[in-house]
Amino acid sequence: MSQQTNQSWGGRFSEPTDAFVEQFTASVNFDRRLYHHDIRGSIAHATMLARVDVLTLDERDAIIAGLGEIEREIEAGQFPWSVALEDVHMNIEARLTEKIGITGKKLHTGRSRNDQIATDIRLYLRDEIDVVEAELARLRTGLIELAEREADTIMPGFTHLQTAQPVTFGHHLLAWQEMLARDHERLLDCRKRVNVMPLGAAALAGTTYPIDRHVTAELLGFERPAENSLDAVSDRDFAIEFTALASLLLMHLSRMSEELVLWTSAQFDFIDLPDRFCTGSSIMPQKKNPDVPELVRGKTGRVYGHLMGLLTLMKSQPLAYNKDNQEDKEPLFDTLDTVKGCLRAFADMIPAIEAKAGNMYEAARKGFSTATDLADYLVRKGVAFRDAHEIVGQSVAYGLDNAKDLSEMTLDELRQFSATIEGDVFEVLTLEGSVAARNHIGGTAPDQVRAAAQRAREALATLTEVVE
Ligand code: ARG
Repeated sequence: MSQQTNQSWGGRFSEPTDAFVEQFTASVNFDRRLYHHDIRGSIAHATMLARVDVLTLDERDAIIAGLGEIEREIEAGQFPWSVALEDVHMNIEARLTEKIGITGKKLHTGRSRNDQIATDIRLYLRDEIDVVEAELARLRTGLIELAEREADTIMPGFTHLQTAQPVTFGHHLLAWQEMLARDHERLLDCRKRVNVMPLGAAALAGTTYPIDRHVTAELLGFERPAENSLDAVSDRDFAIEFTALASLLLMHLSRMSEELVLWTSAQFDFIDLPDRFCTGSSIMPQKKNPDVPELVRGKTGRVYGHLMGLLTLMKSQPLAYNKDNQEDKEPLFDTLDTVKGCLRAFADMIPAIEAKAGNMYEAARKGFSTATDLADYLVRKGVAFRDAHEIVGQSVAYGLDNAKDLSEMTLDELRQFSATIEGDVFEVLTLEGSVAARNHIGGTAPDQVRAAAQRAREALATLTEVVE
């Protein structure tokens, strides 16, 4: 052999890898992010190998000490990463052998990069899920607290983005909270399927060494070893599942973002976002733009893209491991970075929202938002709902012609449309009366909002207890 071939697998090769192919197939520039979990997996693997007498205790200790030094080198930014060594696994193994000699070459006994990488991603994603979970819980807490503060604040509720009926701002915020509660459950559900250990599947068929997969699983905190070696090295469902739930979560954040953008506009002017969450314009000095919600709205697209990318990556792949799977990492990593960033921005921003209660109230007074209340009032006095609907329709037409909301009309004006209307009508035509009347579970009445916030807080506490 005149020219050097790859030291990990070059034995059967007669010429070195093409320089471009080496770059093209290498993953170290992105999978080095997995170094901590790779080392953790290797320590558990070596510990298990010593337990079943495949390694001596001295060999195990040398490996663990060497890996510890390597981790410190990486963290100090002193590790000699090499693209020629292809990926995070071979970079670390080669360095280990440099440090401790031939024993380093024994670490890979009974293991393949195929089960190693599948294990690394799961360990990494499991830790990241816990970070996402904490941010999500922080955001939900912020929403619940703001909802309680704004339980009595009246705003227009919309359908078709047209004023529909008055609601409380607290109720609106708790609607957001409900969306996130579902995302939270999906996240924890996904975590269960992430927390299964591929290690021991080796390349695809298992290994001839007397390994004890339960030991390794326990050392790594996995729920159990994966059942089937072929499936273990090929399965990337967990990454797709995470990206799918992340897509739903981002979809929810994009809807909140959209409303925040609308509400900060001069046309709505319902809320103020503190300056630290906004930016200015380089040309228009008066501008204060809601950049954070806009950017979160925009970032939703890339996460949807990653979901499509991962689904397509796995489509029609034959068992077991294929190099295609190396392409799972960048979409998954970017999804995680995006989700963590968006949640962090939202969790910081939500408690800082200042409601402009007066503007919200004035907007709710316009647009005949208590028209349904007038119809319900007539029904209570014995008018059939369809007739009541017609009577109120005529009152609204009169109001439009005369620029008057229903609550601004005199009793005589209202009685033109139905003699059934009496002095007590004004109680239902006020915004306060309208929201207070929707006083059942799930309704917008301030008392219901306070009770719902309390239940949400308890549900959140129960969910986070499950994790601890
Ligand atoms: N870099 C590879 C990946 O990300 C690691 C596994 C490689 N296995 C192999 N047989 N080439 O999937």
